[in-house]
Amino acid sequence: MSEEIKNKWLDLYATAPQTLEKVKEVNTAVTAFNANVDAVIKLSGQRLAELVKESGLSLSALEDIKQTKLIEPQDVLKGIFKSFKNGIAEEWLSEEKVVYDWMLNHLGYDRLQMGGQGGIVANVLGILGVQKVIVHTNSLPKEQAEQFLKLDNIVSFDEKGQEKPAYQICRNNDVPMIHWIIEFDKGDTVEIEGKKFVCPKSNRFIATYDPLNLRLVTDSHFIKETTENPAEFVILSGMHALTANNDGVSLVEKVLPIMNAWHRHGTIVHLEIASTQDMEVRRAIIQKLATNADSIGINERELIDILEVVGEDKLAQMCREDCHAENLFRALLRVKEILKTPRIQLHFFGLYLTVQNKSFRITPKQNRHGMILAATVAAGKAGTGDVNHAENLLWAVGQKVSDVGLKELQTISDILEDKDFLETGLTQCAGFDVIAVPTILVEKPKTLVGMGDTISSVSLVGAR
Ligand code: GLC
Repeated sequence: MSEEIKNKWLDLYATAPQTLEKVKEVNTAVTAFNANVDAVIKLSGQRLAELVKESGLSLSALEDIKQTKLIEPQDVLKGIFKSFKNGIAEEWLSEEKVVYDWMLNHLGYDRLQMGGQGGIVANVLGILGVQKVIVHTNSLPKEQAEQFLKLDNIVSFDEKGQEKPAYQICRNNDVPMIHWIIEFDKGDTVEIEGKKFVCPKSNRFIATYDPLNLRLVTDSHFIKETTENPAEFVILSGMHALTANNDGVSLVEKVLPIMNAWHRHGTIVHLEIASTQDMEVRRAIIQKLATNADSIGINERELIDILEVVGEDKLAQMCREDCHAENLFRALLRVKEILKTPRIQLHFFGLYLTVQNKSFRITPKQNRHGMILAATVAAGKAGTGDVNHAENLLWAVGQKVSDVGLKELQTISDILEDKDFLETGLTQCAGFDVIAVPTILVEKPKTLVGMGDTISSVSLVGAR
């Protein structure tokens, strides 16, 4: 890819520090609903092979996936193996205590950190300097409070409904909700029955045991405060763990009036879609909430998930077979037409793409500022392991965008026959504004979990 184009993007990326300053103008942002504790472990292919051996699972049994739900411990191995060999991110849920106990005893963990879209986004927006971030928590014992950054601008509610910095709250009777984040590295190999599988892309498999979030238990103090007082942004997520068997569809529907109350204050409500395994719940989230949100955030897998529930099976299949810019862009436009959500942002390997209505409150250039800040922060997170310290936010400043991302952008600019798009990331298509930003790629990312949440929220709140 020509150095000239890379240098043009380097100039555009030089705005990141100023954009970061502007985020401090944001008065209030709300994050809901899910905050949990993530138990993170890096699993080697060798250890995976050992666990499979201990379990007695044959290769064919390991590959025989009847449901993407964790009913018994062996299902955890099936999920990890699938994600490992395909280099993909998935999250499977469990309501079985035996699965939880098995993970605790057989997998263990390297560290605990903030988990859940709501919790992760609260920390990111807090460190970015949003004046007040109100985070929903349905369980806030010491183990959970410890995952919040020690910042007074990130607040939640104690058992009496008193608003306080989240890290200072300790709701003694609450039980911590712990999810296993099992990360694996690109190039690592797992050998099963003499057959070798090489992991094509660093990624993670999430095994979730979380009774409260599986039932979307909400905190009435939070609902009252956020529906009565205006915020500039709400970043909404946490319905992806619901299941139809557990009343998931009606629980999704119950979010609608809350969303409407936020809307009445003129708040921009962004829905982060997240990997939703239960088809009925996924359909409800897409049809009821995504169509009512001002903005939604997705990765390429979630884009395919949406195609599946809006009857675009052929397009879904095409994206599965070739998950690159050409198909993804086409799919994104189709989803935009079907859902009519004013703004949709897709992120995939090397590129962020936003498609929005021309009348949207945030201009294309403002979006580009936000997306550039997001790409910088995401690279900082990947390069340093976390963005818990303000100095890590701008760690990647001065680094050039990747060839992979520019190649994907080139594909779209060729389709649109718009050469400038490759250099500006701004164009129009099908009556919409299209904004693209190629990203900085970190060769060996120290972490990946929460990357999507970070990208979507910083892109939006940083769009100034
Ligand atoms: C899901 C998982 C949570 C993780 C988050 C990251 O919400 O349940 O454990 O932290 O995704 O995006």
